[in-house]
Amino acid sequence: MAARGVGLLARLPLCAQRRSRVQRPSCRLLCCPGTVAEDLQREEPLSGSAETGSEDKTSKKRFFEVQKERREQAQRTVLIHCPNKISEKKFLKYLSHHGPINNHFFYESFGLYAVVEFCQKESISSLQNGTRTPSMGMEAAIPFRSRFFNLKLKNPSNQTSEKSCVQSSDQLPPSSKKLFELLYYAESVDDQVNTLLKEFELTEENTRLRYLTCSLIEDIAAAYFPDCIVRPFGSSVNTFGKLGCDLDMFLDLDEIGKLGTHKSSGNFLMEFQVKNVPSERVATQKILSVIGECLDHFGPGCVGVQKILNARCPLVRFSHQPSGFQCDLTTNNRIALKSSELLYIYGALDSRVRALVFSIRCWARAHSLTSSIPGAWITNFSLTMMVIFFLQRRSPPILPTLDLLKTLADAEDKCIIEGNNCTFIRDLNRIKPSGNTETLELLLKEFFEYFGNFTFNKNSINIRQGREQNKPDSSPLHIQNPFETSLNISKNVSQSQLQKFVELARESAWILQREDQDRPSSSSNQPWGLAALLLPSIAKSKSPSKNKKEKLSSERIKNLLESIKSNRTENPTDTNGKRTISSQT
Ligand code: GTP
Ligand code: MG
Repeated sequence: MAARGVGLLARLPLCAQRRSRVQRPSCRLLCCPGTVAEDLQREEPLSGSAETGSEDKTSKKRFFEVQKERREQAQRTVLIHCPNKISEKKFLKYLSHHGPINNHFFYESFGLYAVVEFCQKESISSLQNGTRTPSMGMEAAIPFRSRFFNLKLKNPSNQTSEKSCVQSSDQLPPSSKKLFELLYYAESVDDQVNTLLKEFELTEENTRLRYLTCSLIEDIAAAYFPDCIVRPFGSSVNTFGKLGCDLDMFLDLDEIGKLGTHKSSGNFLMEFQVKNVPSERVATQKILSVIGECLDHFGPGCVGVQKILNARCPLVRFSHQPSGFQCDLTTNNRIALKSSELLYIYGALDSRVRALVFSIRCWARAHSLTSSIPGAWITNFSLTMMVIFFLQRRSPPILPTLDLLKTLADAEDKCIIEGNNCTFIRDLNRIKPSGNTETLELLLKEFFEYFGNFTFNKNSINIRQGREQNKPDSSPLHIQNPFETSLNISKNVSQSQLQKFVELARESAWILQREDQDRPSSSSNQPWGLAALLLPSIAKSKSPSKNKKEKLSSERIKNLLESIKSNRTENPTDTNGKRTISSQT
């Protein structure tokens, strides 16, 4: 493999080489003893894989340990809308009257926001006690006491000369232009795949903001259900989330009333008087309905609340304006939480897993195989399952089957949810790493070849057994739900969408194959490797003649490269009228 771009990469401006990982003066880990920040600083993890540390060095944390620590961290954190011009030093001094600050960062989202983590929870009550409800003039304010504040300058005129000295952390994925630039100057396809992962994975700050948002929603839900927990699940926590992905939340009411069971002694058993409804589903609908109302009327920053109660899995969808997250709140969805834990384990077992999944997710988004709107297309969850399955099929396997993970489980791992056996080993450190040493380049090519030739009409994808099985029904794409094994997670996918996936997979395998024999030289200015896969397809069935297609495509490539060359400055929002690599899935 010819090494590319060495030297050229060194000449690129630093901002173009790596995005903001190193330049975050506004995010300080000051480390109060015994806090997550202290742990994080000791381990110096990367974000995204932050929770587990690197593959084979330190002991990897269990999913629930990470969730517990992050939740506790979020409970000591506040969100503050700040004036655009603010002195960071004065701001911190002002807040530290309420107690020592463990960590803080700023970000922009239609205004400047600060996320401030105190060392102690008590600091938050102190801050709330010194906070007033705004007087609204003609409008009336609902006096809701939350952890989302608005900071105002007492004498704005005195302070306008003050320069804003805060640097904000980026919550967005890179622009397509910047991504192509980074990929162009990478040294190898493996380097490209890892670069894409680093650019798209959730940052430490974005992860904090996700847990904080759940914690703020939990405060609102707690008005009705004081012991409830709002847990993030899905790609926000399974380590496969891209910057800009939605925030899936699970309103967990199971802790309610549990305390009482320990205290029951003697001859009596005390139970709460409750209202009964005909089914679990009706209970879920009623609970979500009232929480939806509450978010709509009293939830600071919660807008566009939609109650989608008749869906298979009832949910409340809303935008959390200050964080910019599109949120889906469900309840009674414990299996999805377990799926998140399973994916977290697979993502942590081998560094190639996440790298490959991110590339496949970006590839699918770039070719409109996935969409943020529900429909007959494949979902990111299904794509992840396909990558896991493919990695189970390698020789030797890169990932173990779910059945093997179940065999390794001990008594404490046992988990049955609604009659479904969801047991698997949860201690990552007890799973033997794979002896497979295949490169990411090879795996990427083989992935496309494998699924470009998969007998979808006959076979089902099954990560539990790690082998193909006869399809139990006629849906075009059948991916067995790992826990509810009679269900197909890709039931929604139409024949034409599957066909499109297969054609693009074949075309991508062909591009990588051709490059193996005849890789464009570094002086040819051609996008290559992963970058070539993310460009518009040259094999679209409805487009004109082959010559014309090739001409159109090469023109697009030429334009793109020219724009890269002519403008190497950072511009995260610029899409330059060209195709956009997924910013929102
Ligand atoms: P993004 O596209 O990045 O949001 O990926 P995601 O994994 O978060 O997917 P999504 O938001 O659609 O769903 C959230 C979680 O719900 C997934 O991670 C799964 O755990 C679960 N889930 C989604 N779709 C299905 C499905 O069809 N069947 C089952 N059993 N679980 C699903
Ligand atoms: Mg999601």
